[in-house]
Amino acid sequence: MFNSKIAGIGMYVPEQVVTNNDLLQYMETSDEWIQERTGIKERRYAHRTEETTTTMAVEASRIAIERAGLQPTDIDFIVFATLSPDYYFPGCGVLLQRAMKMKEIGALDVRNQCSGFVYALSVADQFIKTGMYKNILVVGSEKHSFGLDFSTRGRNVSVIFGDGAGAVVLQPTEETGRGILSTHLHSDGESAEILAMYNPGTHANHWTNEPVADFDEAEIGEMFFSHAMVDKAQVFPNMDGQAVFKKAVVKFPEVINESLTANGLTPADINLLVPHQANLRIAQFVQQKLKLRDDQVFNNIQKYGNTTAASIPIALCEAWEAGKVKDGDVVCLAAFGSGFTWASALIKW
Ligand code: UT7
Repeated sequence: MFNSKIAGIGMYVPEQVVTNNDLLQYMETSDEWIQERTGIKERRYAHRTEETTTTMAVEASRIAIERAGLQPTDIDFIVFATLSPDYYFPGCGVLLQRAMKMKEIGALDVRNQCSGFVYALSVADQFIKTGMYKNILVVGSEKHSFGLDFSTRGRNVSVIFGDGAGAVVLQPTEETGRGILSTHLHSDGESAEILAMYNPGTHANHWTNEPVADFDEAEIGEMFFSHAMVDKAQVFPNMDGQAVFKKAVVKFPEVINESLTANGLTPADINLLVPHQANLRIAQFVQQKLKLRDDQVFNNIQKYGNTTAASIPIALCEAWEAGKVKDGDVVCLAAFGSGFTWASALIKW
């Protein structure tokens, strides 16, 4: 059995920079509030019509594939993580396969929100280990700016999120003790509604036991997506931020320690922790809890906000480009988010 290694990495963020002050034209908020609570100074928004979750993924993937010394036709499997797909279905994986003129390879979409990239990496890792595939493209991409509530009502969610994409190419490595050492995946669906976007969906209020208003048997499609949902702003993500925060600061250190213990290591052995960029305060809390130095943790949420499934590959790519990830380094990726789901991956670069 081979370990898998990251053979190429790439990222893409849209050109348009949106500062905290730019958001004042839509909602009551302030640069001070956003920076103090989240650390975010600005984020990027995709072009409304010319960029999609998939087109951004294409840009990041081109770089990752080129850095791996490959052509798009060499890729033999795609794992695509996103919560903001171009279409409700089919998934972005097939759109990426088409856009990059790849062969008729398998394309799998992963729906694990903030943990999506680590889940996707773990899936790809298993396929490499079993020898089924040799060049897997793993992508995280999000176009959040298209689906947020920009009124004051939605400000606790909308100020946090940004757009962008990151991608890696996974390949087998013959060197023992190198590459992805282990991955650890978790979920707890008890709190599924705490950070969720319900509509469009097939739930019919089943899980929340709320009455289904004005349901007309003749218009069953209305249950999936209706004017009322739009009128009541039930088509946006909703989040109990404090509940997410409290759980995140417990589960992040837990899943990082789990990966270290599984490999006989301690926090002192980490050369670089790349946490999902959810909130700078969460990352700082995790750093403190694990007693990590500043140079052991990489954050770039200040520039890009929270890009969900894209945040880890974007941060990892920037860290790598800045020379902060070197041959032989122990790199830990860790994520927590909607579901709840959380995950980690420990890599010997
Ligand atoms: O990656 C996905 C996973 N998500 C997360 O990890 C998010 C985790 N949670 C958080 O990052 C934080 O909870 C938030 C940044 C979302 C919110 O910070 P908070 O310190 O928990 O604020 P809060 O929701 O408790 O709200 C405090 C106050 C409220 O006003 P009142 O009721 O005290 O008068 C909010 O209405 O701040 C108000 N508020 C805002 N004010 C200005 C909420 N959003 C904003 C805003 N600008 N954007």
